[in-house]
Amino acid sequence: MLLAGCWLDGPQSTFDVKGPVARAQLNLFMVTVYVTAVIFLLVGAVLAYATWKFRARPGAGEHAGTPAHEHGGSLTEISLVSVSVLCLLIIALPTLKYIGYTFDVPDDQRTNAYEITATGYQWWFKFEYPREQIDGVGSLVTGNELVIPAGRPVRVNLRTVDVIHSFWVPKLAGKVDMIPNRANHLWLEADEPGYFYGQCAEYCGDSHAIMRFRVVALPPAEFAAWVAGQKRTARVVPPAEADAAHNHEPAHVRFASHALPGADSGNALSASPAFDAAPLAGWREKQIPQSAAEGPTLIAEGRHLFQQKTCIACHTIRGHEGVGITGPDLTHVGSRTTIAAGTLENTPRRMHDWITNPNRFKPGNKMYNGGYADPDTGTRLINLTDPEINAIVAYLQSLK
Ligand code: CUA
Repeated sequence: MLLAGCWLDGPQSTFDVKGPVARAQLNLFMVTVYVTAVIFLLVGAVLAYATWKFRARPGAGEHAGTPAHEHGGSLTEISLVSVSVLCLLIIALPTLKYIGYTFDVPDDQRTNAYEITATGYQWWFKFEYPREQIDGVGSLVTGNELVIPAGRPVRVNLRTVDVIHSFWVPKLAGKVDMIPNRANHLWLEADEPGYFYGQCAEYCGDSHAIMRFRVVALPPAEFAAWVAGQKRTARVVPPAEADAAHNHEPAHVRFASHALPGADSGNALSASPAFDAAPLAGWREKQIPQSAAEGPTLIAEGRHLFQQKTCIACHTIRGHEGVGITGPDLTHVGSRTTIAAGTLENTPRRMHDWITNPNRFKPGNKMYNGGYADPDTGTRLINLTDPEINAIVAYLQSLK
């Protein structure tokens, strides 16, 4: 009862299931728990009885003689073997049934299944939508936030570009490894629209524990609208007269109002309490461009810096200058709720912290080691001043 109040319904609980695959796995788990609980109670009771019944009595010699040995009774032996076999059968039959069910989308729903390819990188996830083709580009690609249609089976192809990772959305489906040169897959389905937490579940290096992702399940119409928006090239913020007012302030002042409590206390704060209270609503809010708060001049400056500081070599911003494929696609990064592979909430303050020192939040990451500092000499290849980072943040936040 204590546990039920605490972590049984936590964000990554396998007990608080929200889809048929996770539900099947929970059912199987509970069958096993019930069978083993009965065995535990019976064996424990016999043990307790024997311990009490044959305890040393007062006056008994400390070195009492060994009791007489005898060959066990046939009836006892046959009964114990039969009961053991029965227990194993009770567990084995649903196991076989659910292995078949969870392995792939059921035949009668195969044509309705939506296909996605998830690829593990140290330490983030790339999501490709093979059904959503973009002229002259190929499949729609996003990073770290997997948006799916609710109430519809989703078949996920599992790939990796480097080491073994594991794809796990505890409330929707059990984990399956992403293994080099092996085409694994899983399927999942969300009963209702929702916001779910995912996690790499196979040790894969320094930042394995913070290789996270999100799954956002949407009603069909909203999902279609999201896909249409994602297929568009990156947004260009139109110049505005009001922007002149913004430019009187130094860049660092402009972001002061975004400071979060605890913003400088390490990586403990992955989401604000307000966001945690209603994550799907928070995600929806992220889809709307905040044009009133935007400064087109600062954003243009950020776009220029994104190119000049070589960010474009690793990140794609479709329609803008970026063409890199080493890091996550950032075409619509402003519409995501998290950055740094689900580690930090996507706020200007947090993005500023992340770009200032990525290694602080994700030790060993390629952005830092590949771009910020030369691993051999320690010489910094990318130098960013605070105002420059503010401009880059303004640019990235504008990419809805
Ligand atoms: Cu990827 Cu652990």
